[in-house]
Formats: sequence, structure tokens, C-alpha cells
Amino acid sequence: MASSSSQPVYRATTTAPVNIAVIKYWGKRDVTLNLPTNSSLSVTLSQRSLRTLTTASCSANYPTADTLSLNGKPQDIQSSKRTLACLSNLRALRQAIEDADSSLSKLSALPLRIVSENNFPTAAGLASSAAGFAALVRAVANLYQLPQSPRDLSRIARQGSGSACRSLMGGYVAWRTGELADGSDSLAEEVAPASHWPEMRALVLVVSAEKKDVPSTEGMQTTVETSSLFATRAQAVVPERMTAIEEAIQNRDFPRFAEITMRDSNTFHATCLDSWPPIFYMNDVSRAAVRLVHDINRAVGRTVCAYTFDAGPNAVIYYEEKDSALVAGTVKAILGADTEGWDGPFNESVANVTAPGVA
Ligand code: DP6
Repeated sequence: MASSSSQPVYRATTTAPVNIAVIKYWGKRDVTLNLPTNSSLSVTLSQRSLRTLTTASCSANYPTADTLSLNGKPQDIQSSKRTLACLSNLRALRQAIEDADSSLSKLSALPLRIVSENNFPTAAGLASSAAGFAALVRAVANLYQLPQSPRDLSRIARQGSGSACRSLMGGYVAWRTGELADGSDSLAEEVAPASHWPEMRALVLVVSAEKKDVPSTEGMQTTVETSSLFATRAQAVVPERMTAIEEAIQNRDFPRFAEITMRDSNTFHATCLDSWPPIFYMNDVSRAAVRLVHDINRAVGRTVCAYTFDAGPNAVIYYEEKDSALVAGTVKAILGADTEGWDGPFNESVANVTAPGVA
């Protein structure tokens, strides 16, 4: 708590990591509660290169409305139902502990000021909304000293952005679609901690830092409404893949993990192409990365790397540390990537990819 002019300012700062799904969430069965059509599973990346830093504060000194700024730009939270839903859920939890303990300061009655910063391109298919809403929920929960577990908070973050619920935990995280109409069982849970498979690495190839053409929320609704492949993926394909990839993770079976990851990225992008009008997230550089991964695996004679693409052209390539020179080295040499590496449970190397003749 810090004092500025007459009233105290209460403050909490936190960071949240990006997660990259290997089984993709694509489609909502309830738009208001942000409930998914299928379960999904992701790997949480270390925060050294990709993270959101958020400070939440509240004070009677602040103007009456809550405010949010992202990368220095004020955001209109009053028109963002999702942000309002997260804040009202968090306030209600604070209110409940204040009602139970009259010695607590009435923070729930004070206007909030939230300041957020990404250290990577926002809305370029690099899971910025995942890290963003996870950091917002965690920061306000810390400010309010809420006793809720990450699992409980994931229900709130989910309402900000579906993928955000998976960024409240580390390692390998599943978001279970749930069955209840009120969404109370649609939450994230850790399948395995990062320490279970410390050799895993992710190479992030920043093919384009531009804002994506079709935001995920809009894109997935078009797919739900118009794609004939969509229902098969959600109902028949993903449930089997969830079971199989959880097994692969438990067994640290990289070739199996890799094949499921690549196949699910391809199926997800196939449903985008099958939407009407079709949605293209991958570009020529993305496709060059796909070919390269298959070429590397074929040349080595075993599966040493796997690609996956979210709602944008940027590639994430998973591999194991022992194959780092082979995978990161080859990708860098062939795609002309300018890579940088870090130590950590999940090393990411962020590389800017350029390919001749591709915008
Ligand atoms: C392709 O979580 O951004 O990255 O819930 O509408 O905010 P909203 O969607 P969002 O969608 C992410 C889609 C994805 C796949 C994934 O992360 O699972």
C-alpha cells in the first residue's frame, strides 16, 4: 500500500506467461459465458521472452470509473463485456471476504486502475489475449488478496479470453470443456508440471508482427456457423487427441506428442479454410516452416520437431533440448531466422523470419 495525496493507493504487480495450444480451442458453445465447443491443451512458455506485466491498483483518489491501459494506450473497458465480467467476478469475491471480516479495507468499493504491458506484438497470433487476461485476473486477485486457487481463477480468466484460463498455470495445461450450462466446470487444470518434461523447448518464429486480419473470436464464430468439418473435429477428433496427447506427455513420448500437435494444427487450419468465406491465417512463410519441419524429421529419420500455428502466420516449433542444434540450427540456417536463445524450463527463441518474395 502506498499513500498519494489524501487516500491510500493499494497496488499489486504480476506477470503472466503466454501459452501455445497443441490441441486448439476453436469454437464456442456459449458466447456469453465463453464456453468452448472442445477441450484444449497447451504448453506454458517461460516468461523471459513472452509475457504480460500488469499492475492493478485501487484508491479513493482515482476517478470513479475503472480504467485499463495496454502498452500505454487507454482501453475502453466500459464497452468490453469480457473485461467487465472479469472485474465484476473478482469484485464479488473480494466483497464476500470483506462481508465476512469487517476489519478488511473495503477495496471492492474503490475504482481500479490497471496498467498492462506486453513485451511482444499484441494480437498477432502470439497469444497476447491469453497472457493479458491471465495477468489482469492474477493482478486483481493479488490486490484483493483472494484465497482462490489458479483453477478457480481460471473460470474468471476464461470469460476474458478462453485461452487465458490456461495461462494461470505452468507446464502442460488442459482446459476441460465442461458439461454444466453455467460453465462452472469449464476450467483449466495442470496435466503435468514443466519439471515433468524439462527438455521441451519452443522456438517462436515471428513471421509477422502485424495485427491479424480476422480476430479469433470472430474467426471461430464464422467456423462454427459455416464449416462442415467443424463438428467432426470438435466431437470426434479432439476428444481422442486429448487422451492421446495426455498419454504422450505422461510418457514424454516426443514423436507422438509431435504428430498429434502437427495434425491438430492442420485440422484447425483446415476448418478455417472450410469456413465461408474462408479464413487464412497461415501464409507462404508459415507453409515453408511446415515443409521444413517435415523435411528435418524425414532427413533425421525420427520425429525431432513439431510445428503449430494459432490464429496467425507465426510458427511455434516444439523440440527437445538434445535436438536443439539440429532443429533451431537448421531452421535458422534455412529460413534466415535471427534467433536468440534463453535458459529456462521452456526456452523460447524468438526469431524474425524473412523469406524472399513473401510479404
Ligand atoms: C487459435 O482465446 O483468443 O489460439 O475466447 O474468443 O478470446 P476468445 O479466443 P482466444 O482463441 C484462441 C484460439 C487459438 C487456439 C488456442 O489458444 O487454443
